[in-house]
Amino acid sequence: MDTARVPQPILEAHRVTFAYPDGTVALRDLSVAIPRGRRTAILGGNGCGKSTLFLHFDGILRPQSGTISLDGRPVRYDRHGLADLRRRVGLVFQDPDSQLFTANVRQDISFGPTNLGWSEADVRAGVDQAVRDTEIEDLVDRPTHLLSYGQKKRVAIAGVLAMAPEVIIADEPTAWLDPEMTAKLLGLLDRIAAQGRTVVISTHDVELAMAWADHVVLLRQGTLIGTGRPEVVFCDEVLVREARLVTPTILRAFLRLQERGLLPANASARPPRTVDQLVDLLAAGAEIRDELARVGS
Ligand SMILES: Nc1ncnc2c1ncn2[C@@H]1O[C@H](COP(=O)(O)OP(=O)(O)OP(=O)(O)O)[C@@H](O)[C@H]1O
Ligand SMILES: [Mg+2]
Repeated sequence: MDTARVPQPILEAHRVTFAYPDGTVALRDLSVAIPRGRRTAILGGNGCGKSTLFLHFDGILRPQSGTISLDGRPVRYDRHGLADLRRRVGLVFQDPDSQLFTANVRQDISFGPTNLGWSEADVRAGVDQAVRDTEIEDLVDRPTHLLSYGQKKRVAIAGVLAMAPEVIIADEPTAWLDPEMTAKLLGLLDRIAAQGRTVVISTHDVELAMAWADHVVLLRQGTLIGTGRPEVVFCDEVLVREARLVTPTILRAFLRLQERGLLPANASARPPRTVDQLVDLLAAGAEIRDELARVGS
């Protein structure tokens, strides 16, 4: 496990345990720190507790033991404490049908900022910006219930963006999106992170986490099993299997190229995160080999 200290967590779960009313224990003594201003991906198999953790981060669920903290201060579960938490932390639910409930798309996106007590002009500006950011201009006047599932996901994301929270938590935001929309959404989440805001997503997609995240968290059966930079955490093939994931293709290629002697097996070499980075490494290796051949001849 990459044990490098996580700098300045903005959100933290400390020794959180939570069981649903039917007795299912979803989180077991779980401690997770979300680094401020970074892009974090939470991964793990079905039922490992990702959505349950996110519901704790937004104060919808309350730990039975342990604490959730924002900016180092434990969340207060009175009306003011929860209002403050939800102004600063926006959660996009895994299932958009849990989030969208008004008749049309514009009303739905306006609901959050209106509820925060914003002026009509500010609500309109926030909604217009969110609509542009998520590229749903063509959907704003449509009845929500007639949208496709992927369109509903984008509307649900717009509804949270419209409130301009400091921390955006999106539960499987790319599930059901087509590849073009997935790339656009990740670009949007990048721009949000570049503004210094914190973005947290859950996903089963290791390729996406590898290429996109600054920080990954691996869960299994409600406990933390790994955390750190993706190219470090995903190098541990045993850990990856334990999290019911697979090693990202780019890392598999890197490790096999090292095994075959086509890349130097230097333990301190930082593995590539993208195809371009792998190609750069291969090109650099080829240059060194050419140079050695010249010197040797
Ligand atoms: N309302 C509920 N009542 C009882 N058990 C629940 C409820 N919601 C979730 N669980 C259980 O809690 C555990 C954690 O579920 P959770 O939805 O947090 O997992 P997840 O990691 O988000 O899974 P997925 O990848 O399928 O979305 C699972 O065992 C699940 O069956
Ligand atoms: Mg889930």
